[in-house]
Amino acid sequence: MKKLMAANWKMYKTVDQGVATAQELVRLLAGRLPSDREVLLCPPFTMLEGVSRVLADAPGCSTGAQNFYPAAQGAFTGEIAPDQLLALGCTFALAGHSERRHIMGESDEFVGQKVAFGLAAGLKMILCIGETIAQRRAGQVEDVLERQLEAGLSGVLGAATAENLAVAYEPVWAIGTGEVAGPAEILSAHACVRDKLKAMLPAQADQVRILYGGSVKPDNAATIIRLDNVDGVLVGGASLKADSFSQIVLA
Ligand code: PGA
Repeated sequence: MKKLMAANWKMYKTVDQGVATAQELVRLLAGRLPSDREVLLCPPFTMLEGVSRVLADAPGCSTGAQNFYPAAQGAFTGEIAPDQLLALGCTFALAGHSERRHIMGESDEFVGQKVAFGLAAGLKMILCIGETIAQRRAGQVEDVLERQLEAGLSGVLGAATAENLAVAYEPVWAIGTGEVAGPAEILSAHACVRDKLKAMLPAQADQVRILYGGSVKPDNAATIIRLDNVDGVLVGGASLKADSFSQIVLA
């Protein structure tokens, strides 16, 4: 599987700004994207269509949504459905990002519903998991990751493949803080995720991509992406500028 180099633009940029960043990124990567790398941009909903159009001509690049509601349609004011995203050219979606778990109060179970619903609707899903600093200090990293994987994947065991499922390990204390997890911390967390995937999805586990996220920058990306069991990165702040994200993609 190709390494998945994913950008999470969170609630930043207007449509024009997002489209301009995507155009600049495509220009910077033209003819340079290694054959073993794939690029994913997850912009706000408002610019999914515009960014998808820009990436349509860029080999190895696609768009993803940061969120959706797990229903086909209906009276869910303010929410968006997988089919509406697919119609904009969006092929991936995140579920369980720590900002949604901690700010919007999404439970492990609700995240699991989204993963199952998104996969059934035809989206490729990236399940985000990770411990808080208090959980790390209490020695609970493995317990938290295993619990979030169990709840996040229990509804998809028959449907998940290496193509339609990825897991992003994002320690909450490393997101947006500039404090990146060290190689030893990443290696042990990713090994734990791989072991749990082997127990839950034995046929697919070796191929399911495990991404690292949390303060990935141009100067640490090359080290992180070459660690065992690191099959990609999920980048927030450093993905907002095309120049910095292109350096990470090519690291
Ligand atoms: P960061 O965010 O790169 O700004 O730490 C990562 C994420 O939230 O996915």
